[in-house]
Amino acid sequence: MGPCAYRAGSSPALQYRHYGAGLFAIVIILASVLPDEVAFSTETAQSVGANACAECHTKETAIWKNTRHHRTFREMPRSKEARGIAGKLGIKRIKADPLCLGCHFTTQKKRSKTRVTAGISCESCHGAADNWLKIHSEFSGKPNKKSETASEAAVRWKQSVAHGMIRKDAFYGIAKNCYGCHVVPNEKLVNVGGHPAGSAFELVSWSQGEVRHNVWYNDGKHNAVAGTKRRRIMYLVGLTVELETALRAIAVATKFEEYAIRMAHRADKARKALHAAAERLPDVPGLASIVEHAHSAGLKLGNKEALTTAADKVAASAKALADRYDGSKLAGIDPLIPDKSKHVGEPSDSN
Ligand code: HEC
Ligand code: HEC
Ligand code: HEC
Ligand code: HEC
Repeated sequence: MGPCAYRAGSSPALQYRHYGAGLFAIVIILASVLPDEVAFSTETAQSVGANACAECHTKETAIWKNTRHHRTFREMPRSKEARGIAGKLGIKRIKADPLCLGCHFTTQKKRSKTRVTAGISCESCHGAADNWLKIHSEFSGKPNKKSETASEAAVRWKQSVAHGMIRKDAFYGIAKNCYGCHVVPNEKLVNVGGHPAGSAFELVSWSQGEVRHNVWYNDGKHNAVAGTKRRRIMYLVGLTVELETALRAIAVATKFEEYAIRMAHRADKARKALHAAAERLPDVPGLASIVEHAHSAGLKLGNKEALTTAADKVAASAKALADRYDGSKLAGIDPLIPDKSKHVGEPSDSN
């Protein structure tokens, strides 16, 4: 499922007809709030750039170079579509505008100047690394992994995370980054710029295709699809973060236009999918309460406070879910999880 599927037939008139079919009601109250800027995990910490990772993570880097995340660096600014969006927003240089930089590029501070060094790269998902790069890769000062004790390793990982590293098991943190870009929670960009209002994103299918790079802990022998238990957690945490992000996106909407309609549709869809999951997992109380929280705020304009409160509660439940379950008790949702045929693309190195 590519982005085109989502964009197909995206004339506003069509969408009004489609979404106007009583799916949900948006009350038109013009709130006087301006859309918030998207917040990124890289805001305080600084990026070191993908070349610094490539030194050790050679295979992951080779796989990444064959993804759209890498290609966007060259291709996006040259596309006709990009010039159209930039034109409507009065942006002269796409690669210098903070708005576009936030989601399409990696920036690095070099001698007090901010430079654009890559597309969406390692640190866009794993966190800006200047504060954790050395900690995570040097075995507590020991010559190698074998000579480091288990408790030293535990401290090393704890410190890495405390300094901003988003590890492979930090499902909530990873999902927040994916959805922070793929929902496109920016009203002006969508309504005025005509930028796509997000991707038809789902965490399992979008992470297990061309993006997949599970080649480190098996010495690069095999780029395996995430195991069943991981995929179960990814599916649930993904939907929950989608819901959280969409609720926050509606909270800052000011006009009954494309943006608000898309975000409300997205929240409603995530809510329904979570409801279906909750029905299949009656022993997971956290899920039912997520659905409840999601229904506690109307998907309408001028409802910032209630929507933000609901999003906060959904977020807390999502974190608790990610912390508490290892996936072994979640088999009930297996029929809902997208299978291999839905994975978006193929990694360049999938042997
Ligand atoms: C000097 C070598 C080196 C560099 C440079 C390096 N890493 Fe690592 N990385 C490692 C080692 C070693 C491990 C595994 C440590 C272990 O097995 O306990 C690792 C593990 C990881 C993991 C897996 C964490 C987990 O959850 O288990 C991620 C993600 C990661 N690195 C990302 C990065 C990123 C992003 C960069 C660049 C900003 C980077 N690394 C740069 C050596 C390096
Ligand atoms: C909140 C994150 C976000 C911001 C900010 C953002 N984009 Fe995007 N952009 C995306 C995502 C996600 C996609 C992929 C959408 C899809 O799946 O179809 C995308 C796709 C595109 C595409 C179509 C794909 C391509 O490579 O041609 C263009 C063009 C584009 N963006 C231009 C821009 C420009 C110009 C800006 C700055 C004005 C910008 N974007 C800001 C997230 C963002
Ligand atoms: C689009 C987000 C994204 C980008 C970009 C990204 N990663 Fe990851 N990374 C993940 C996710 C998600 C996982 C866990 C995947 C899974 O379980 O299937 C992961 C897992 C890993 C692992 C553990 C692999 C293993 O064998 O289990 C390492 C190491 C790693 N990433 C390093 C990197 C490096 C280095 C780069 C840049 C070259 C990079 N990542 C780019 C999201 C990303
Ligand atoms: C910093 C913003 C950002 C983050 C974080 C991010 N993406 Fe993306 N992603 C984009 C943009 C922008 C595009 C479209 C690039 C283009 O085509 O120019 C994209 C494209 C993709 C594509 C290709 C889609 C297609 O139709 O071929 C996949 C798959 C994808 N992302 C998966 C993920 C996953 C999984 C995560 C989290 C683990 C993630 N992304 C995190 C911004 C991001």
